[in-house]
Amino acid sequence: MKILVTGGCGFIGSNFIIYMLETYTDVEIVNIDLLTYAGNLENLKSVEQSTRYRFVKGDITDRDIVRLLASEKPDVIVNFAAESHVDRSIIDPSAFIKTNILGVQVLLDACREFGIPRFVQISTDEVYGSLGPEGSFSETNPLEPNSPYSASKASADLLVHAYFKTFNLNVVITRCSNNYGPYQFPEKLIPLMITNALEDKDLPVYGDGLNVRDWIHVLDHCKAVNTVMRHGVAGQVYNIGGRCEYCNIDIVKLIVNKLGKSESLIKFVKDRPGHDRRYCMNADKLTSELGWSPEISFPDGIEQTINWYLENQAWWERIKTGEYLKYYDTWYGER
Ligand code: NAD
Ligand code: TYD
Repeated sequence: MKILVTGGCGFIGSNFIIYMLETYTDVEIVNIDLLTYAGNLENLKSVEQSTRYRFVKGDITDRDIVRLLASEKPDVIVNFAAESHVDRSIIDPSAFIKTNILGVQVLLDACREFGIPRFVQISTDEVYGSLGPEGSFSETNPLEPNSPYSASKASADLLVHAYFKTFNLNVVITRCSNNYGPYQFPEKLIPLMITNALEDKDLPVYGDGLNVRDWIHVLDHCKAVNTVMRHGVAGQVYNIGGRCEYCNIDIVKLIVNKLGKSESLIKFVKDRPGHDRRYCMNADKLTSELGWSPEISFPDGIEQTINWYLENQAWWERIKTGEYLKYYDTWYGER
């Protein structure tokens, strides 16, 4: 099976590539990634020598490069490429609209032109908006995104659906909850808190810290994507979730305590504008129809993740300089 992965140098894409190459000897992967601030070739060191892996630096909004790769006739395109951080989309939505919407159009057009038999769009639970204290999102929930990031992802989902209906393109969409695990860029909650705590820096918690997210280990997400890629029904959406709700402050306290640091590092700061209160995924469709369910418990997964950041200090120390510092000062400086 030849897979064209987009955005494979980011957090989830790199975990997916490593998982697929290690698990299936008949899988070949081409990875196109623009290497934005979030893309890191180091994530793929363990597979870069593989004869079944090839990296191409390129932008999914660039028709020429996408057409060139599509003309090699992969069996499937799995689209992880995106601008992915809500806070950055509040500072400037432009790149989100370009990559997350226009980029998807370019990929879909290439699938049509070259007859690519399958397109997998990696979407997010955030397209559904925010939940109250009860209930969960199912695939039939309306799309009610609240941030420029989630609005761009919802737009892409609608476009993917339209190409299914209008052009009969073989597409599937996955919508997953918050991931955590190795190689996550330290701007997202869990790696930010782990690395700041290790550096004895403030731990900025937005608002009252009681916003709830549904956490899933990245490896469970990758396995779900593989399942949907192979067995999902064309035109369908599949929710993916960890059945694991935590409010932010509890996660931050857990990390602080596991690292033996003081809770006095925790600082409540001005809330994120439009901050979604709660996400919770109902992934019953994926479990009952395709047989997937998460395998890694949160206590095990978070322990393993904290250890990974302890053991890979050089990886995140290199990242937390340069461009990232500028962003950090812009976003947190005034909070
Ligand atoms: P990430 O920000 O870590 O990685 C994104 C990757 O895409 C980077 O390697 C970046 O260089 C690349 N990229 C960005 N713009 C590009 C472009 N124009 N052309 C080619 N490559 C480009 O993101 P992630 O956390 O790995 O998320 C991957 C996907 O999963 C995204 O589509 C995101 O919306 C979705 N998702 C993420 C989560 C989560 O918790 N992280 C949850 C659900 C869904
Ligand atoms: P994040 O990792 O950015 O994921 P998302 O917003 O896509 O769910 O944030 C997870 C939660 O943590 C969210 O409710 C916002 C909160 N948060 C903080 O309280 N402080 C922070 O510094 C960050 C980055 C996030």
